[in-house]
Amino acid sequence: MSLNKTIQSRLSTIKKRGQIMIFAFAFVFLMLASHSFIQAQIPDKFENLKVLPKDIEKSKLVSIMKKFTSALGVRCVNCHVGDASIGFSSFNFASDEKELKTKARFMLNMVNQINSELLVNLNTSEREKLKVQCVTCHRGQRRPVLISDTLMSAYSNGGIDTLVAEFKKLREKYYGSHTFDFGERVLIRIGSQIQDLGDMTGAIGAYRLNAAYFPESSMNFAQLAFVYLEMGDTTSAVENLENAVKHSPEVSWYKMQLDKLKGK
Ligand code: HEC
Ligand code: HEC
Repeated sequence: MSLNKTIQSRLSTIKKRGQIMIFAFAFVFLMLASHSFIQAQIPDKFENLKVLPKDIEKSKLVSIMKKFTSALGVRCVNCHVGDASIGFSSFNFASDEKELKTKARFMLNMVNQINSELLVNLNTSEREKLKVQCVTCHRGQRRPVLISDTLMSAYSNGGIDTLVAEFKKLREKYYGSHTFDFGERVLIRIGSQIQDLGDMTGAIGAYRLNAAYFPESSMNFAQLAFVYLEMGDTTSAVENLENAVKHSPEVSWYKMQLDKLKGK
């Protein structure tokens, strides 16, 4: 690189850094501004605390409330009476009118009880004690359901097509968040559950859907092979087992099954 170019690239790095710094300052300023703006609209005295300490500091209460919203994937207005389009000045935080707030209070009591009456008795001498929090169960949803339960209830409602549609919808919305597991084994477990119910076409549908996201999954190929075998379609079973062996040559069990099928 010529000296001139080196200087030019140095200068542009410095310029970029400057821009980043300005952005960073602007961002922090906005955060602080919106933070104090929110704080200013929330009353300083609390009138209806039944679980949290009555003299809790405002900043502490607000941080607990923010944790509620992110743990459950809801907003303040889901638990508190008010008009979100106007702002917190229109809120009556003390009111217990919304059912979700009373349920949340019940949960708050439950979590306190788990931590201070039950978990304390667990012997965890060597480790730091872990506490149960809202997010431990909720992981971003109001009702902490598992993806497998949601998918199986979609299946009971409308068969494999409904399950496939539900899976795609959930993946679109939640992929990358901590709410649902979209790993390789989920649809394999679902598929084998459906297989156990005797619905081979449904099971194949689940594994095919899985293959769209994990096209090289040997586990998925093997699973497909076993459905085809159960259906008496040896050709497709062999084909899928060959794929399983191809993608996981180190798993001798696939190879053994394949040899057995081919009558070797
Ligand atoms: C999942 C429901 C839930 C969400 C979401 C929620 N809160 Fe609360 N909030 C509660 C419960 C429950 C209490 C009462 C706790 C108690 O009884 O100790 C409470 C109490 C309060 C109080 C004290 C009211 C008083 O005078 O007694 C304020 C202020 C408050 N919340 C603000 C907020 C703000 C701001 C948000 C959004 C960032 C929010 N809350 C989100 C459930 C919720
Ligand atoms: C040990 C697991 C667990 C923990 C921890 C937990 N929850 Fe729950 N929560 C549940 C379950 C399960 C349900 C569903 C109950 C039902 O509707 O059948 C639920 C339901 C709720 C609901 C009602 C949702 C609705 O749509 O009806 C609210 C609100 C709620 N939890 C708030 C909280 C808050 C706030 C915390 C933390 C203080 C918390 N939960 C901690 C398991 C938990």
